[in-house]
Amino acid sequence: MCGIVAYIGPREAYPLILKGLKRLEYRGYDSSGVALLNDDLRVYKKKGKVAELEESLVGQDVHAHAGIGHTRWATHGEPSDRNAHPHSSASGRLAMIHNGIIENYAQLKNELIKKGYSFQSDTDTEVLLNFVEDIQKNNNCGLEEAVRIALRRVVGAYVIVLLDKDHPDTIIAARKGSPLVIGIGKGEHFLASDASPIIEYTKEVVYVNDYELAILKADELILKNLGNEKITPFIQKLDLELAAIEKGGFEHFMLKEIFEQPETIFDCLRGRLDAEKGIITMAGVENNIEKLRNADRMIIIACGTSWHAGLVAEYIFEELCRIPVEVEYASEFRYRNPVIHNGDVIIAISQSGETADTIVAIEKAKEQGAFIMGVVNVVGSSIARLSHAGAYTHAGPEIGVASTKAFTAQLAVLTMIALKIAKEKDTIDQTRYMHLLAELHTIPEKAREALKAADSIKKLASRYANDANALYLGRGYNFPVALEGALKLKEISYIHAEGYPAAEMKHGPIALVDETLPVIFVATRDSYHDKIVSNIQEIRARKGRVVAVISQDDEVIPKMAEDYMTVPETDELLAPMLSVIPLQLFAYYIGIAKGCDVDKPRNLAKSVTVE
Ligand code: M6R
Repeated sequence: MCGIVAYIGPREAYPLILKGLKRLEYRGYDSSGVALLNDDLRVYKKKGKVAELEESLVGQDVHAHAGIGHTRWATHGEPSDRNAHPHSSASGRLAMIHNGIIENYAQLKNELIKKGYSFQSDTDTEVLLNFVEDIQKNNNCGLEEAVRIALRRVVGAYVIVLLDKDHPDTIIAARKGSPLVIGIGKGEHFLASDASPIIEYTKEVVYVNDYELAILKADELILKNLGNEKITPFIQKLDLELAAIEKGGFEHFMLKEIFEQPETIFDCLRGRLDAEKGIITMAGVENNIEKLRNADRMIIIACGTSWHAGLVAEYIFEELCRIPVEVEYASEFRYRNPVIHNGDVIIAISQSGETADTIVAIEKAKEQGAFIMGVVNVVGSSIARLSHAGAYTHAGPEIGVASTKAFTAQLAVLTMIALKIAKEKDTIDQTRYMHLLAELHTIPEKAREALKAADSIKKLASRYANDANALYLGRGYNFPVALEGALKLKEISYIHAEGYPAAEMKHGPIALVDETLPVIFVATRDSYHDKIVSNIQEIRARKGRVVAVISQDDEVIPKMAEDYMTVPETDELLAPMLSVIPLQLFAYYIGIAKGCDVDKPRNLAKSVTVE
């Protein structure tokens, strides 16, 4: 949510910041802006995508060796030029960008209004900036000290980055609850919300922690805590290639990421799964095996697509490990007064590792003594660092706002964790264990096979692009896939879609069914197959338009469905990794047919760092 880029050093700051903002646009894209500092401080901002900012700056003076840039996902105040960041302080001396929410901004604003301040925007950011300036004035102190004092009063989450006209050789940044990475170059420094704008210039990075302040000059980095004590920066090497964050010939990141799944699932299994020897190697599980095998209960916390992966995991863990599992929306869990016992294990699932609701839910569970196992994609992210143990999904950067490859990688990791625990607990017999390992090993190839249907799905999708609604139904392991299919469709094409357990439909949603409603069944061959065939009959009897995801050798459903999409057969426990693929493509092609911006759907952001 909101992307931040900053630079100080010998290069021209503007083109570098602009490129970085384009890479971070997945985090928010309703307005953007830059502040550039030489002898003077110039602030340019524009409603709309970064390309619109770029266009508006043609012919403007953009020469500078220090600058900050921002792409916004609106929280306080509608998307507009005046609410775009950077904001300028009342005196015009300071400029600031911000990612996060200042919860007590109204109180701070009232205090400032009483002192005679007025505001150009509706944002909490402008309030915080003027609060900093006011502190500086009253205390006659430097910007660094004023920021420190201000942040001690601030309630909420933030990354802030400031420029001071009187100190063109310095950028000041601080973090709490939102991500911030510093890139260390030779005689230059970079700052960004994630490593993608930095990777081209340096692989040496420092992840700033909560309550830390960074003072950056071209050739110096000082990290301090809010108590003004210096902290030694922990420099890490980025394990990320530029190619991974580019489109590589695909029209959209979403399509590229859907097509990457054979490799990403393979990468996720690589070095962990030895199907022949019957071994799964996962240090995060092995080092904590006593805790995991003795868990009285598992609570899975996540949001969105990651929550759907959690639902699949519930079925898998209960089946294989015989451990009761609860799957919780992080956003509900964090505000409840949940009962957490000593023997509970929390599994936190997140692609970005920065989802604010999941972070706070983890913190809450940790406070009550729970053991946290993170299943995270972004290496070094906040959730990865907050967890006691974890397993990365190794899906590579996911840039399309709609999550695709992260989901299948999460399922692969969660399945391996469950298999390892089940083996330790002896809740799985050897034949089934070896069978599941062997099947898991084939999933990347079967995913490749499933993708071959892309062209036929494209044709099929065009027939549903003008529909206003869709109902997705599935049973067992495929029930969460129905939810995920519906989520993909609504995110990408803005068609209203509902996911339901197929058998639950008769308790209400069946009232929606008529000859106009597409009902998408996720009905691969499994132990529920006969039952779902009956559900299909129930829809047909009411003239609903049946579309089905089925196994390649299914001879029954093709005779009943208006349209169908096939995937290779596998064990039902692993089926979601395949059955979701046609639904991702279906949503993608409908979005394209409708002319939607599939990589940047309206109102969404990739990384939801506000509550
Ligand atoms: O980064 P996370 O996995 O924590 O993100 C959770 C959700 O915000 C995310 O899955 C969201 O629902 C996606 N847009 C789904 O496509």
